Amino acid sequence: MSDRKYDLIIIGAGPGGYLAAERAGAIGKKTLLIEKDKALGGVCLNKGCIPTKALLNSAKIFYSAQNSQQLGISVSGVEYDLKKAMEWKAKAVSTLTKGVEYQMKRHKVEVISGIAKIEKPNEVAVGSEKYTTENIIVATGSSPVKLSIAGSDKPHVLTSDELLEIKKLPKDLVIIGGGVIGIEFASYFSMLGTNVTIVELLPEILPNFDKEISALMRTALKQCRFILGAKVISIEDNKVSFITDDKMEYCQADIVLMAVGRKPNVENLGLENINVDFDNRGIKVNDRMQTNIPKVYAVGDVTGKSLLAHSAYRMGEVAVNNIFLQKDKMRYNAIPWVVYSYPELSGVGLTEEQAKKEGRNVKVSSLQMRTNGRFVAEHGNEKGICKVIVDADSNVLLGVTLLGGLNSEIIYGAAAMIEDEFRVKDIKDIIFPHPTVSEIIKDAIWELN
Ligand code: NAI
Repeated sequence: MSDRKYDLIIIGAGPGGYLAAERAGAIGKKTLLIEKDKALGGVCLNKGCIPTKALLNSAKIFYSAQNSQQLGISVSGVEYDLKKAMEWKAKAVSTLTKGVEYQMKRHKVEVISGIAKIEKPNEVAVGSEKYTTENIIVATGSSPVKLSIAGSDKPHVLTSDELLEIKKLPKDLVIIGGGVIGIEFASYFSMLGTNVTIVELLPEILPNFDKEISALMRTALKQCRFILGAKVISIEDNKVSFITDDKMEYCQADIVLMAVGRKPNVENLGLENINVDFDNRGIKVNDRMQTNIPKVYAVGDVTGKSLLAHSAYRMGEVAVNNIFLQKDKMRYNAIPWVVYSYPELSGVGLTEEQAKKEGRNVKVSSLQMRTNGRFVAEHGNEKGICKVIVDADSNVLLGVTLLGGLNSEIIYGAAAMIEDEFRVKDIKDIIFPHPTVSEIIKDAIWELN
């Protein structure tokens, strides 16, 4: 039995866990990070954000090479080599996971490989080894949900984890679920020439976003077929059957992606040993990331609060600050989100619908991207829109949504404005660089009436 004692034990080395470890190590706290997988970095680095971005970029370049005649570029013999694209993706992943290993060494964080189980509020076991600690952070992430319908265990029915490892491009891909994962993969495969069908249960894709913009996104992904308001009944070897408008129909599929959400990893952690309050929606935490048990914290997807890597980063920081430094609070109102399809969709704050539901008086302005100089110069007639929502009583900015081109690098500006409660006048006073797509935010503000 080990007699090692720690200031902090962190379970799970995804963005929430490794960032918390880095911050605690950096202030000299004796920190142990326990990870069950071989590589550090969690879903984000190994099976999520990073690998999908590597592949999506390769597809965008392939698609542009074939579709840029109007810019004076004609290329023949363009080919997509999936094996090479996968190697590029693997290299990006390994560079970054090694970067996390380096950061752990640099901040003297001890890392061990194994499955951690909480035995007591101050004791964690890995196999027969026991480790004692002053504090625990649970950062075990989430896993894809699989529908339990006939045929869902067939080998061609994949989650996003397995789809990132395929060896051959599918001819016909059916995606069950038109959420963030569904749309990113729809964009990737359709740019490569796969026939993509998205079957969504609700009347519109991306149901948590601005309805008008979700519909516009659907028309922007013109190569894809969308079947809305449809319930999948069964999956056979090469077809997916669903009910829509009370009729049974089917579509062709050589691969089926299940993208119907993710569930927090709360099982087999020993949470019940110390009576941590949790259910299948996640571990309950307050805004300091504390569970109901003093000195036991939870961060990231396992809390079920905001399933985004950047939310997990901030939650990790908030937990470490509360444990070792000063009081800190997690705020959820200015967390930006991005759908990395082509075109990209990003946003922050409230949609018009959400603001109205909160009982707010709102002013809304929508401006087409074709009014923006940089966008027209680079993207011509492509679809795009910027929508801003302002509180009509206080003139404080409440929400921004952008669709069109590559806007993911812009949205943090709007997040800063919302975090700092910028008013209309403050935004009008900012000088934006010209020509940039970011100017659309200021122009949309001027269009408010
Ligand atoms: P999601 O919750 O975004 O979307 C799931 C979709 O599946 C919804 O549209 C839902 O109506 C639909 N659905 C549910 N049951 C269905 C059924 N039986 N048949 C057809 N459709 C059904 O979940 P998703 O896309 O799996 O993503 C999981 C999480 O990962 C999300 O919270 C997301 O924010 C996060 N994520 C974030 C990314 C980003 O920030 N770029 C990228 C990938 C994932």
